Amino acid sequence: MEAVNPYYPIPTKIKKIIPETPTIMTFVLDGMPIQFEAGQFAELTVPGAGEAPFTPSSSPYADTMEFTIMQVGRVTEALFDLKEGDFVGVRGPFGKAYPLQDFKGKEVFIVGGGVGFAPIRSLFLALVHNIKDYKKIYLRYGARTPQDIVYKHLLPQWEKIKGVDIVLTVDVGDESWHGTVGVVTVILDDIPVNVKTSPTVVCGPPLMMKFTTQRLVEAGFAAPNVYLSMEQNMSCGIGKCNHCRVGKYYVCKDGPVLTWENIKDIEEPFA
Ligand SMILES: Cc1cc2nc3c(=O)[nH]c(=O)nc-3n(C[C@H](O)[C@H](O)[C@H](O)COP(=O)(O)OP(=O)(O)OC[C@H]3O[C@@H](n4cnc5c(N)ncnc54)[C@H](O)[C@@H]3O)c2cc1C
Ligand code: FES
Repeated sequence: MEAVNPYYPIPTKIKKIIPETPTIMTFVLDGMPIQFEAGQFAELTVPGAGEAPFTPSSSPYADTMEFTIMQVGRVTEALFDLKEGDFVGVRGPFGKAYPLQDFKGKEVFIVGGGVGFAPIRSLFLALVHNIKDYKKIYLRYGARTPQDIVYKHLLPQWEKIKGVDIVLTVDVGDESWHGTVGVVTVILDDIPVNVKTSPTVVCGPPLMMKFTTQRLVEAGFAAPNVYLSMEQNMSCGIGKCNHCRVGKYYVCKDGPVLTWENIKDIEEPFA
C-alpha cells in the first residue's frame, strides 16, 4: 500500500455501525484507510465537531478497519450521530504498538475493562492470526453489568479457539448471568501462567488499570513485562503541547503502550 500522510485525514465511509452496549458502538469502516499495528492509534475527525484519538479494535490483518467507541463528549457525540454511509476522517497511525516479537513463544495474559476491550481486541486478533507463535493466550475481561459487555456476539467463537482461555466477570449480575460477579481483580486470583517470563497487557478505565496493575505486579509479573495501553487526554498528538504527559513520557509519541517499568515511579500514573 502507498504510504499515507498521517497529518491528512482520509475521508472514509462508515460501512456498518454495531451497537455493543447502551453507550458503546463499533464503527466498521469501508476498507483500510491506513495500515497500523495492534496498539497504535488513529485520529478520527467528524467535520464540524473536531477530532479525537481512538485505537482500532479490528485486526491489523483484516481488510476493514473498526473502532469501538464510548460516547463521552463532543466528538464522540458527533460520531454517534453519524449513520451508515456517512464519512469520517481517519489519520495516522500514531504511537507505539505492542511488541509482538517479544511475546513469541510465551503465554500472553491480557486483562481488559469496559471500552478498554477495543485495543485489547485488536491485539487479541493479531495474536490469534499467528496463534502457533504463542504458547497460549489468556483473556480476562470485566464489565459493569452483562449489558455492558462489548463483543458479546463474538465471544462464543473466540472461546472455541484452541490455545485461547477466556474468563469474564461483571460488577453486578442479573438473572441472565451465570458467570463470576465482582470487579476484574476477582478473576485475577488464579493466574495460570508463568508470571516470571510472561507478558501481560492491561487496558481499561483509570481505576481498573491501577488496581489490575497492582494485582499483576503482586502476582509476580516483572515490571518491564506489564504493558499498559494508556488513554490520557490528548491535544496536539505530536509531543508538543504536554496534554498527554505521564512523567517524562508523552502518550501520543512514546505510548500509547507503556510498561509498568516506564511509569511505576510516577505519582498517580493513571489519573
Ligand atoms: C491513545 C488513545 C486511544 C483511545 N482509544 C479509545 C477507544 O478505542 N475507544 C474509546 O471510546 N475511547 C478511546 N480513547 C478515549 C477517547 O479519545 C476520548 O473518549 C475522546 O477523546 C473524548 O472526546 P469527546 O470530544 O467526545 O469528549 P470531550 O468533550 O473531550 O470530553 C468529555 C469528558 O470525557 C473526558 N475525557 C476525554 N478524553 C478522555 C480520556 N482520554 N480519558 C479520560 N477521560 C477523557 C473529559 O475530561 C470530559 O470529562 C482513546 C484515547 C487515547 C488517548
Ligand atoms: S497530545 Fe500534545 S504532547 Fe501529546
